[in-house]
Amino acid sequence: MRAYWNQHIHDLEITKHPVGSRGFFDDLDQYHFEKLHHLLRLVAFDGYRGRSVLEVGCGAGVDLVRFARGGAEVTGVDLAPSAIDLARANFEQQGLHAKLEVADGEHLPFPDNSFDFVFAHGVVQYTADPRRLVEECRRVLKPGGEAVFQVYNRISWLNALGQLMKVGLEHDDAPVLLKFSIGEFRRLVSGFPKVRIVPERFPVTSRLHGGWKGAVYNGLFVGAFNALPRSLVRRFGWHLLAFCKK
Ligand SMILES: C[S@@+](CC[C@H](N)C(=O)[O-])C[C@H]1O[C@@H](n2cnc3c(N)ncnc32)[C@H](O)[C@@H]1O
Repeated sequence: MRAYWNQHIHDLEITKHPVGSRGFFDDLDQYHFEKLHHLLRLVAFDGYRGRSVLEVGCGAGVDLVRFARGGAEVTGVDLAPSAIDLARANFEQQGLHAKLEVADGEHLPFPDNSFDFVFAHGVVQYTADPRRLVEECRRVLKPGGEAVFQVYNRISWLNALGQLMKVGLEHDDAPVLLKFSIGEFRRLVSGFPKVRIVPERFPVTSRLHGGWKGAVYNGLFVGAFNALPRSLVRRFGWHLLAFCKK
């Protein structure tokens, strides 16, 4: 697993800037929040000033930088040393401070009740024992603290479209790639006394897909899907976010 993630930096293919340059991190940030614009609405990146935030599976630190800019004291861990190297370069470029270390989210190197907020976006679905990772996040969270987890929705527009059009998912060659129904995800985070699950991530035009499939997707599908009332299709969002309180 570590070998795979060490070589497959998330979203690397969307930028032409040299790896580790300012332009590289700016492109990653722009792409991430264009595709996942719901995060800016749902996650209080500016809401943890002076408080401790842990990100598990921080990758190049795109989200973690946002928490740090909002004044949080941030810690990021990732299984892949190459991701932590990039996150370090990202924080250096931005003139921000973070504690960053290589660690497995299934065995977090922190005492119980250490953090005010734990963020685990795009990591639970790639780990061998997702329950263990979720339980570790709960363990290190302070009582009354909040955690946000994101996974992929098995019963979603993107999963159905990918199968119909025979287009592979990002990282479908990873050693583990799990998808959850809303009920399965709810059971996974059931150790938290309070949980709210929000399906998100509806079609946006893709820079990554070309040819006739890309043209049909960008020219027809995105507009047609987004014309449907969101209340009817919300449960089929590709991302499931769990907002959990300890
Ligand atoms: C798809 S990327 C997501 C990166 C970032 N969180 C985001 O949402 O853009 C998955 C990241 O999780 C990391 N990862 C996978 N399994 C992990 C584990 N058990 N513990 C810590 N990090 C892990 C990978 O190394 C990779 O950086």
